Amino acid sequence: MPKSIDFNFIEEVAKRYDTPLFLISASKIRKNIQTLKNLLPNVEFFYAVKANPHPDVIKVVAENDVGFEVSSQNEFNLVYSLLKDSSKIIVSHPVKKEEEIEFYAKQGIRLFTVDSKEEIKKVKKVCERADILVRIQVKNSRCVVNLSSKFGIPLEEALDYCRYIKKLGLNPKGLAFHVGSQSLSPKPFINVLNRVSKFYEIAKKDGIFLEILNIGGGFPIPYKNPVPHLEVFCKPIKEILDKKFTKVKIMAEPGRAIVGDAGLLICKVIGITKRNRKIWYYVDESVYGLFSGKIYDQASYPLMVKCNGVRKYRSVIAGRTCDSFDIIEKEIKLPLLKMGDLIVALQMGAYTYSSSSEFNGFEKPKVKIIEGDWNG
Ligand SMILES: Cc1ncc(COP(=O)(O)O)c(C=O)c1O
Repeated sequence: MPKSIDFNFIEEVAKRYDTPLFLISASKIRKNIQTLKNLLPNVEFFYAVKANPHPDVIKVVAENDVGFEVSSQNEFNLVYSLLKDSSKIIVSHPVKKEEEIEFYAKQGIRLFTVDSKEEIKKVKKVCERADILVRIQVKNSRCVVNLSSKFGIPLEEALDYCRYIKKLGLNPKGLAFHVGSQSLSPKPFINVLNRVSKFYEIAKKDGIFLEILNIGGGFPIPYKNPVPHLEVFCKPIKEILDKKFTKVKIMAEPGRAIVGDAGLLICKVIGITKRNRKIWYYVDESVYGLFSGKIYDQASYPLMVKCNGVRKYRSVIAGRTCDSFDIIEKEIKLPLLKMGDLIVALQMGAYTYSSSSEFNGFEKPKVKIIEGDWNG
């Protein structure tokens, strides 16, 4: 994360396009993809579209030879309209409507992820010869968003699932997992990879040859608090993949690590008052808009204002909607700001635009993709 940002640039673009303005840095996306590829060279990456489905983001990702993970027909259509190629698209959502499975199958998708026998039956109905990944749960007390509370089966049941898939005439191809989004430690990855490698051996003895493993996402980025560097995070993962999964095709579907730090929001102070010994600043974005990640993604975005370093006051930052729930920061120390001053939120690239709404009639912010970045 940059220690400082180029405020001249920020002021210039805010003046040119007005606020709220969502900037996306193409060069940061490219750099993030290259870093992941360097750190995990034997992994095939599929960008999780849900993290940020803006078409310009999809284009940059596609230019960098990365596939896409989609969870809905609309996400599929969006990616397909730009790529015109379904071979680079995977569908990892373990719960789909029968019509959706039919749609994907017609588009040439053959690999489906499941975490229930009902889902296996649904796939069998519409796609006779499908390849199947079974999603397993992962214990992780160090992740911010625990996906295993909703998805996955215990690993202990996976052999029974593989046998069932085979019995129905489908192809059990491997397992899939997600350690939880924004995992603050690589240990859960290591634990699950060790258990999964033993499982692949057990399955082989049962006559089930598993060729694929989808290791999901979960790679962390810093917000207000630091996280392990991606290098430190990926090193033990690479070691175990190199040692224990030499004959297995490894797929991963990161979202946050590709776009998280590549998004920045510029908003503006549109109202000021004093209440309960705090200064209240109202800005032209909200928790219903780009700050929705504060609610759904439990993210705490670092904020910057131009006049750092001077005396600071207890302040509140409130959103622009006519709802009292819409508070962006309940308690934050800020220098005195005036009407029209800019507030910049960093690390806004993932799970912000995608979960924002137009509640109260406020449109989503303008989006500008830029070539360089805003580092000071
Ligand atoms: C199935 C699946 N794959 C990938 C991702 C992306 O995860 P992350 O942004 O943590 O890399 C998610 C996030 O929710 C997911 O549900």
